[in-house]
Amino acid sequence: MVAPRNNAPARSPRWLRRTLLGAACAVAGGVSLAAKPAVLLRFSHVVAPDTPKGQMALRFQALVHERSGGRIRVEVFPDSQLWGDDDEMEALRLGAVEMLAPSLSKFGNAGVPEFEVFDLPYLFADLAQVRRVTQGAVGRGLLQRLGRQQMLGLGFLDNGFKQMSATRPLRTPADFRGLRVRVQASRVLAAQMRALGARPVVLPFGETQRALASGVVDAAENPLSNFLTQGLAPWQPHVTLTQHGYLGYAVVSNPRFWASLSQADHRLLASALEDALAHGNRLSADLDRQALAMLRRTPGVMLHEPSAAERAALRQAVQPAWDGLRRSLGPGLLNDVRNALITG
Ligand code: SIN
Repeated sequence: MVAPRNNAPARSPRWLRRTLLGAACAVAGGVSLAAKPAVLLRFSHVVAPDTPKGQMALRFQALVHERSGGRIRVEVFPDSQLWGDDDEMEALRLGAVEMLAPSLSKFGNAGVPEFEVFDLPYLFADLAQVRRVTQGAVGRGLLQRLGRQQMLGLGFLDNGFKQMSATRPLRTPADFRGLRVRVQASRVLAAQMRALGARPVVLPFGETQRALASGVVDAAENPLSNFLTQGLAPWQPHVTLTQHGYLGYAVVSNPRFWASLSQADHRLLASALEDALAHGNRLSADLDRQALAMLRRTPGVMLHEPSAAERAALRQAVQPAWDGLRRSLGPGLLNDVRNALITG
């Protein structure tokens, strides 16, 4: 069940958080700090536990514990407590964390620009279409490309479709004009906001709530479970159900860590992850529906549904984001994605 968070989390310096968390996990797990598991896998992510990614990570932790009899321990660090958007991929490469699930939008900035194809506005009509791409040859090819950046791609997870939030309804391109909109570090997302006459401001996820609260940015795009669990509603009372883009994740590990494991542990971790991803993917649409229902009941939150004509105008206005991606990546990947959507 997704739950809103109304206040910014108390932030301590990251090194202190890491130390305290490590101790807390060890004590909560009923093991002494000296009792080391045979394999320790730290899984860091930036969202709340009651989101598709948070739930997937916890399921993975439980499955690995159960199937390894506690020999392999997964420690899950949610809410940017261990690493945030700015440093998590570097931490993975350096061996300071073993598993991450960054949003697909963040891999372009990490040297794999092909992932920005998922940011194209109105590319997918629904999650079934997304899966035709992520669960087929195109998805496998993209995961392989992560090897170029010393990351091992292990699988895809859905969150859902993004909706716009702001201090006013955002139903037409004219409504966006002049707004400073928080975006992830993706060229396609920045181009999309510029095409709407807004100013994109790239900020780490963990800093978004504070930036909205202090007025550094005026608007944001999020799936509803992230909007709700980050406690954005008090500063963003207008939520427009634009459904304009997809947000999903790739689970990645450090290839050196993976290579250090036995074949049996590979199999165990891979099958636990496959089951955890299936669980997260089953849950994503439910959590989205629950978040919508909860926002409908939240005093002060106003939900807006653009008309068909307004949606068409928004779709038309963001075409420059498509042109930009075609120019930077060429037509190949886009054709592959289109074919996957047609043929399944
Ligand atoms: C996430 O869901 O991991 C965060 C996405 C964002 O940065 O907006």
